[in-house]
Amino acid sequence: MGLPQTDKFEELVQRLAGELPEALFRHTLEVTEMAGRLAETHASELVERTRLAALLHDNCKHWPPEKLADYARKLGKEEELEAALGNPKLLHAIVGAMRLREDYGVNDPEIELAVRFHTTGSPRLTTLGRILFCADKVSEDRKYPEVELLRDYAFTHLGIACYEIVRRTLVRLLELEAPIAPESIEFYNSLLREQYSWES
Ligand SMILES: [Fe+2]
Ligand SMILES: [Fe+2]
Repeated sequence: MGLPQTDKFEELVQRLAGELPEALFRHTLEVTEMAGRLAETHASELVERTRLAALLHDNCKHWPPEKLADYARKLGKEEELEAALGNPKLLHAIVGAMRLREDYGVNDPEIELAVRFHTTGSPRLTTLGRILFCADKVSEDRKYPEVELLRDYAFTHLGIACYEIVRRTLVRLLELEAPIAPESIEFYNSLLREQYSWES
């Protein structure tokens, strides 16, 4: 049972090595490594599936915006295009999730959800999705002033890490006067409510 899974994973690594630009492939491997370590820490039964989600999370990040939009249209997902607010950054996550089943033969709703919301976050994220959300922001290839603090949070308390990441993202987007995905605000609100249970 374990072996075919491993074979499939290795097969996908080779495939992505050919499909992704070098820097994106390197980022992908770092996120996969971080997601695996975080899963071992918080939910060891999720390690394999979390690593698979991480491996595929940016599968079309390198596509031009028009190609991303065409793909979504081809599948009749016009409303998903609306949800992306015209932002290719959000669109790569939405299309990336659509491609899992279509193009990579991965049929796992929880992984799909994790990839779909890996950029914005969402209250719908399960532990697997929260790990991917954090791993993508605190992988070893990430260099920004607060990354080490956020990485520490990610290993000690996944909820606090998500909260601090989404809070900082919202502040930055407001300062930039950039659009904010509703699910990011919903994620922030739900984490804020969750905090009462962390403090007790
Ligand atoms: Fe991404
Ligand atoms: Fe990423």
